[in-house]
Amino acid sequence: MDYKLTTNNLCAKDFIRLRESAGWGNPLLEHQVAAGLENSLITVEAICDGQVVGMGRLVGDGFTIFYIQDVIVLPKFQGHGVGTTIMQRLIAHISDSALPGTRVATGLFSVKGKEGFYKKFGFCARPDDTGGAGMLMRVESRGCHSEINEKRSGQSGT
Ligand SMILES: CC(C)(COP(=O)(O)OP(=O)(O)OC[C@H]1O[C@@H](n2cnc3c(N)ncnc32)[C@H](O)[C@@H]1OP(=O)(O)O)[C@@H](O)C(=O)NCCC(=O)NCCS
Repeated sequence: MDYKLTTNNLCAKDFIRLRESAGWGNPLLEHQVAAGLENSLITVEAICDGQVVGMGRLVGDGFTIFYIQDVIVLPKFQGHGVGTTIMQRLIAHISDSALPGTRVATGLFSVKGKEGFYKKFGFCARPDDTGGAGMLMRVESRGCHSEINEKRSGQSGT
């Protein structure tokens, strides 16, 4: 299968299309996705015949903690190594970003049944002998979004 990888070239519509192909619930708004992509550390896209057929992205502070998010390959293109090359590109970005002499924690949430795919890259499922469980909650908006973001952009300008 002929495809190439690009970076930081993912639009919200393609993200939503790939997410829907994976059957993930919790639909996201297009402008919410666009802002999320803009704030990602890197997005990686697999392109075949001009179409995005796979993606993955990194979020985090870029220095001390990284999270791998939304690794998705369209069903028709699965099983050809696309997911592997996307993961390798994301992990290479973390390795390149890490300060010399440091090792940085990298997390992800695996969909049930996909743990084996991530274990190939060295990820361990938790809880294990030393680490506690991964936890998740969905927090409701309090409607202060603009206020908080104005404060943030004010701070970054000082
Ligand atoms: C998970 C996913 C990204 C893998 O992409 P892919 O392009 O099919 O993966 P690859 O072809 O690179 O497979 C790499 C290896 O992982 C293995 N693998 C793939 N899915 C696996 C699974 N669920 N469990 C164990 N191993 C798996 C493959 O057999 C292959 O092994 P090999 O290198 O020994 O041949 C893809 O199945 C997908 O998009 N699924 C739907 C979305 C999803 O669930 N994403 C994960 C979010 S947490």
